[in-house]
Amino acid sequence: MLEEFCFWQLSGTSWALLAALGLLFLQFLYGNLSLISGETRKEPPGPKRFPLIGNLHVVDLKRLDASLLALSKKYGRVFTVHLGPKKVVVLAGYKVVREALINYAEEFGERDISPLFFDFNKGHGILFSNGDSWKEMRHFALSTLKDFGMGKRMSETKIIEECRCLIEEFEKHKGEPFRNANAVSYAASNIISGIMYGKRFEYSDPAFQEMLAKDHESIRLMGSASILIYNVFPWIGPFLKNWRILMRNLEIRIEDNKNIIADLESSWDPSSCRCFVDVFLNRQLKVEKSEMENSHYHEHNLLNSLMNLFAAGTDTMALTLQWCLLFMAKFPRFQDQVQEELTRVVGSRQVRVEDRKDLPFTDAVIHESQRLCNIVPLIPHKTSQDVTFEGYFIEKDTTVFPLLTSVLFDESEWESPHTFNPHHFLDKEGRFIKRNAFMPFSAGRRACLGESLARMEVFLFFTSLLQHFRFTPPPGVTEDELDLAPVVGLTLSPRPHQLCAVSRQ
Ligand code: HEM
Repeated sequence: MLEEFCFWQLSGTSWALLAALGLLFLQFLYGNLSLISGETRKEPPGPKRFPLIGNLHVVDLKRLDASLLALSKKYGRVFTVHLGPKKVVVLAGYKVVREALINYAEEFGERDISPLFFDFNKGHGILFSNGDSWKEMRHFALSTLKDFGMGKRMSETKIIEECRCLIEEFEKHKGEPFRNANAVSYAASNIISGIMYGKRFEYSDPAFQEMLAKDHESIRLMGSASILIYNVFPWIGPFLKNWRILMRNLEIRIEDNKNIIADLESSWDPSSCRCFVDVFLNRQLKVEKSEMENSHYHEHNLLNSLMNLFAAGTDTMALTLQWCLLFMAKFPRFQDQVQEELTRVVGSRQVRVEDRKDLPFTDAVIHESQRLCNIVPLIPHKTSQDVTFEGYFIEKDTTVFPLLTSVLFDESEWESPHTFNPHHFLDKEGRFIKRNAFMPFSAGRRACLGESLARMEVFLFFTSLLQHFRFTPPPGVTEDELDLAPVVGLTLSPRPHQLCAVSRQ
């Protein structure tokens, strides 16, 4: 005889199973339609996804930013893609990116710390950290950089000294073709190095060359397709050559920095601060013993902030300058106009920051170069809380890509987004005009903290070089043959190339 089914006769395991199924069902309802509350939580649309790979079949990992920009044409300004099982909300176009980063600064202001970024900084430092530690380190770094003259006359003097060294280096090639990438990177690095370590390095110093080569290689590999896959499936790390190179580079760079810190500590005099490291050590001294445990001024934050600022302050600057020079060789009529303006307004004396307002065309060329080179196309953010944005519900802890490529190339903001056109930044009378969609430094609470230093550096290096040299393709290469397609990493670099720097004197 069939026994009657009674709920109260279920075993403990069956109850647990039933409860789990019930929970899953509730989660499904809640996650999809929020039928429970009666409210519809519309999530941003996106391509249909497959189990495990998500939408990896429709994105090009070798040029993620460009392929996301293409998807935005179909799915709109706020859409979802799944990189494997990882859900990402993409924000595309000036209006939406600005709205999110400025008007929803708190909600979109966290950093998404992918497995690789965690490998690098373990949540310390500035670039790949969050919460109180990030807040304290960012604030400390900003005020220390300002104390060391960021954006002021003090750094102007230092940059001008470094311009002279760079010009000397270029002169050694006597107008013959050469790759300027290294020299430009040594010069840029010496500026941030002066602030962080209190010293400049000789361009011929092999240890210095090695440090920069390692950082550059790491930044390039961080954006490689295999590392993007690693971030989705971290267990494959040890099988990936790029991941192994990154970990080896990391170890070497930690060692370099520990040695520099130890050197500075051995000659440290708390009554006079030579650099960022000294200021940090002084700050540590002020922390009461009883508060030591909760203090953010520990050695991990010192090491990681140093490494962040050094790498962020070198590579971005060096790439921007390389792009500026490449654009000048590619578009000689704009180079003519910059040089005519420099000769007319400044003559042969050293250019200074205060000349900028009298050099509208040169300023426009610099801005247009930064727009078109788009060196940091996307750095991941994360939502700090549930948020309804542009009518869509985005859950707390969702990875968000504010796509800077989509801002710098926004077709509704720029008259000719894909061509080099300095007139984007000039009015009819030839006066310089600011454009809101010029956002290479991003915006909001995670915006680049080195922006004012970077702007000063780009202006002074670029104008000093153009006063001294005419940049041309190597003999036998036409301007058309100069390739503007980037090498893709975390940043976008120009392809290895040679230019001639022909003396104008
Ligand atoms: C032309 C040069 C530069 C460009 C285009 C640039 C661009 C950027 C961008 C797009 C971000 C990400 C912002 C975001 O997450 O929304 C960033 C962050 C950052 N930049 Fe720059 N940067 C440049 C130069 C510098 C320099 C010279 C320094 C150092 C003095 C620096 C230090 C940093 C730091 C520490 C962050 C992380 C900020 C945070 O997460 O709170 N950058 N930069």
